[in-house]
Amino acid sequence: MTSTLQSFNIPEQALDRDCMTLSRHVLQQLESFTPEAQDLSAIMSRIALAGKLISRRLSRAGLMADVLGFTGETNVQGESVKKMDIYANEVFISVFKQSGLVCRLASEEMDEPYYIPENCPIGRYTLLYDPIDGSSNVDININVGSIFAIRQQQGEDLNGQANDLLQNGRQQLAAGYILYGPSTMLVYSLGRGVHSFILDPSLGEFILAQENIKIPEHGPIYSTNEGNFWQWDESIRDYTRYVHRHEGYTSRYSGALVGDIHRILMQGGVFLYPGTVKNPQGKLRLLYETAPLAFLIEQAGGRASNGEQNLLDIMPQKLHQRTPLVIGSKEDVNLVESFISEHKRRQTES
Ligand code: AHG
Ligand code: MN
Ligand code: MN
Repeated sequence: MTSTLQSFNIPEQALDRDCMTLSRHVLQQLESFTPEAQDLSAIMSRIALAGKLISRRLSRAGLMADVLGFTGETNVQGESVKKMDIYANEVFISVFKQSGLVCRLASEEMDEPYYIPENCPIGRYTLLYDPIDGSSNVDININVGSIFAIRQQQGEDLNGQANDLLQNGRQQLAAGYILYGPSTMLVYSLGRGVHSFILDPSLGEFILAQENIKIPEHGPIYSTNEGNFWQWDESIRDYTRYVHRHEGYTSRYSGALVGDIHRILMQGGVFLYPGTVKNPQGKLRLLYETAPLAFLIEQAGGRASNGEQNLLDIMPQKLHQRTPLVIGSKEDVNLVESFISEHKRRQTES
């Protein structure tokens, strides 16, 4: 039997794909219309709206006043804040205000979480996010990203210290990133595989691009800031020397984690940001950078670790905690870890 579309000679698959918006996909993934499924679908739509607003501003950044450059402030990490960091941080807050969805937002750019008290009686979720990841790329028009994770709101946070957020990464309900590249792409997981969407500017919608993305077991890419070689532990230097001396590896590093990890998700390999002499815990933040990406990469069949422990098992001690990161294809993460454990073994023997 031919379908109506076939009889009119309309390509059914292409049309189906154009109609697979993010919010519809979330409902399909959760296989239900329960209040939780509807909440998650609505939250993802708001995150997508934030992505569209940020993408719109980035696309014209060099033409507008007060978009590029620094604000002159430093954030809780002691890093210089860029105007786009602040704009993007505010965008996430605005899209969730009066949404009834999210009670609290925690971000790289805010010392303490931002409460939306009017949402709290019904907003059962917390959003953790890095509004602009790789913000040094903004002024030179190279890719940047946003990273997000959704967690269940945990109680009242009575002392205002957000201690209830200090849970391991397996408590994340959903996580993902938006990549502002040649096209704007949203990649997410609800713990049921990893799926990517591309922003179709003519529709103003994120449309499904690829479902159930799987990261290769091994890949050629190694992605790390080798300028830190002098500051690394000998185990990481040994791994790097190994890569330099073997055929089949290629180095890629953009200065924006989201872009580098997206490449590794698609092509395989490993991204490393180990501890350094200056920052023994590395640079990247656990709750809104490394844990969401670890959730995603595990869902794609890869691995993420701090070099010694699965990243999703780490219990944070504080909101803005940093952690070393080794993430990507299983075999490549295992290889880096084997250099680290071998060094430890030799140290304890001597
Ligand atoms: P952010 O802009 O949110 O501070 O993150 C930048 C991060 C990450 O995206 C990137 O991989 C890393 O910092 C680059 O750091 P180095 O310049 O030290 O290599
Ligand atoms: Mn970042
Ligand atoms: Mn950032």
